[in-house]
Amino acid sequence: MRQSVTVTVNGVPHEDAVEPRLLLVHYLREVAGLTGTHVGCDTSQCGACTVLLDGMAVKSCSMFAVQAGGRAVTTIEGLASGTELHPVQRAFWDEHGLQCGFCTPGFIMATAYLLDQNPSPSDDQIRKGLEGNLCRCTGYENILRAVRAAGRATATKAAVEAAVDEVTPPSPQPVGVGG
Ligand code: FES
Ligand code: FES
Repeated sequence: MRQSVTVTVNGVPHEDAVEPRLLLVHYLREVAGLTGTHVGCDTSQCGACTVLLDGMAVKSCSMFAVQAGGRAVTTIEGLASGTELHPVQRAFWDEHGLQCGFCTPGFIMATAYLLDQNPSPSDDQIRKGLEGNLCRCTGYENILRAVRAAGRATATKAAVEAAVDEVTPPSPQPVGVGG
């Protein structure tokens, strides 16, 4: 029997009736129509299906869609701001952190979470943070380079935003207030 699930995906609320055993990754791909999240194995080992669940990186093949009920999921499609790539996407592009690209959405989501937790990870921390993601093509060196670059970009962006906040003038009063 189908079960109703309400889940916010990339900021958009979805309500669907699904089989209780439908995996979250299949829900995202086949019900929500978001095929950027890939399925690379059937043993929960490759990480190609990584998404953010309430901000935490999870393998979406390792949980049921109904378990995401009431929660917020971010997929690779939800990472960019309009036409502006997320710093992690930009870094993978700039540093050629991919070849066939099949594993890339999972690596990017896992990296976004890693940098959210630790904006300046050491190489060991990057390797540890991404050990749940496998790539058959790249040899990992460019991925490592991309994560380092994304970390630098994230730190720079945060510093710029902090500086802008410091010089932001107070909000102007609406016309007519205070006579
Ligand atoms: S498809 Fe989820 S870990 Fe491989
Ligand atoms: S780029 Fe091909 S599997 Fe990673």
